[in-house]
Amino acid sequence: MDKKEKLRLAREYEKEESPKIEREEKPSYHMSVPIGWMNDPNGFSVFQGTCHLFFQYHPYSKYWGPMHWGHVTTRDFIQWESSLTALAPDMDYDSNGCFSGSALEWNGEQVLMYTGVEEFEEEDGTKRMCQTQCIAIGDGKDYKKLEENPVIVPDALPIGSSKTDFRDPKLWRDEQGFWSLVGSLNEDGSGQLALFHSRNMIDWSFVKILDQCKYEYGKMWECPDFFPLDGRQVLIVSPQFMKSDGREFHNGSNSIYFVGDYDAKTQKWSRKEAHMIDFGLDFYAPQTLQHTDGRQILIGWMESWDNSLVPEEYRWSGTMTIPRELSLKGEKLLQNPVQELLVYRKNQVKYMDYILEAKHGKTEIEGIYGRCVDMELHLSGREYRSFLLTLAADETHETLLRYEQETGKLTIDRTRCGMCKDLISIRSIQFLEEERELVKFRILLDKNSIEVFVNDGAYVMSTLIYTPKKADKILFQTDGKMTLTIEKYDILV
Ligand code: FRU
Repeated sequence: MDKKEKLRLAREYEKEESPKIEREEKPSYHMSVPIGWMNDPNGFSVFQGTCHLFFQYHPYSKYWGPMHWGHVTTRDFIQWESSLTALAPDMDYDSNGCFSGSALEWNGEQVLMYTGVEEFEEEDGTKRMCQTQCIAIGDGKDYKKLEENPVIVPDALPIGSSKTDFRDPKLWRDEQGFWSLVGSLNEDGSGQLALFHSRNMIDWSFVKILDQCKYEYGKMWECPDFFPLDGRQVLIVSPQFMKSDGREFHNGSNSIYFVGDYDAKTQKWSRKEAHMIDFGLDFYAPQTLQHTDGRQILIGWMESWDNSLVPEEYRWSGTMTIPRELSLKGEKLLQNPVQELLVYRKNQVKYMDYILEAKHGKTEIEGIYGRCVDMELHLSGREYRSFLLTLAADETHETLLRYEQETGKLTIDRTRCGMCKDLISIRSIQFLEEERELVKFRILLDKNSIEVFVNDGAYVMSTLIYTPKKADKILFQTDGKMTLTIEKYDILV
């Protein structure tokens, strides 16, 4: 196939094949891939007043393949419109894929910065991938790759840095010009973030290694994001090959944040220790945008590299989380669903002071059921040791959310959600002593996903379930006595 044809073919394929997927199969209020495979969010940004989201995309199968950039737009983060493929791997320097990156608006145009991947041969004949940073500029629909691409090559990095692991540029602009923060591997094999500067986006110079992993948090730091929030600065990275610390982090790919301070004049960055962004089973590579109304909004890929759960019969794989508004409480990142979701709440069912007791066993509460649901729970009364919520349930399926007050542990367990592979199914949040007063849950169900927001966004868990749609029961149980306020809505889009 002529390389130049790749973009046209991807667009045609999407137009023709995506309408064949039944709407019922797709999430109703979460962004999902039109057809084929999707991983990381890319270029999440505002352009001419509209929010744009690009994504790692392989339209032709539901498995990862040569990466394109898919493209959707939205006005409210709930309904997404396809803009068809934005980038295809159609140049020599990106012939093995257009990897993750970011976007900004400049001079009335939309600038995308992404990683081009190209195979090269070492002197001894071994084949390796070389990663470089490239730019494409467009009008919000069509993009032209710069003649000068690639604009940053790994030779610009400190000696010993990897040529193969050099990716996922975060691009931003201030009065000093353009900045790009790129994930890279240090001589010692651990992650580092390389900061580059440019006045014209074509000529870039290496400024410094802004941060280093030093084997403390995994190895390669993928998908950096770096932004001011509530008077501080936040760094987000997604490290590969992390090891569980027994409390916060799990093995493999995690997404973590650091709160710190950044002096833009001297590029001095100082930060404290890392924390987990999402404690569920499916969350990776989040990105944020700064909205015109000042909100910093985060979206993540709601899937996991290590545990793919997608049913055999599906022709698609890829869902994003609900976009979340970020704020800081001290040095803790709070995340809450975008306020736009409230518009889609319908059919309110509300209970004030519902008394739940051990003797009731597993209790169904009238009107509380469904698979496209936004439900808020307030818990009061401390005369219990555990509280169990059973979601997406019928006789043979269930996903459990259990809170053990004594140990301060909240666990999601999807063992019986309907899968027939031996995948990781249980994950917990271990609350610190002072955080155990668990009072509030907000739970979003959208057919195949569950997102749990605890205590006004202090903790979040996102998990896929792929349970038959008829399993729509929600059951409540405690081993003592508690008082619940329940507010449940259907989300109708
Ligand atoms: C993260 C990641 C990125 C890379 C992209 C490739 O999930 O591995 O580092 O750019 O996915 O699809």
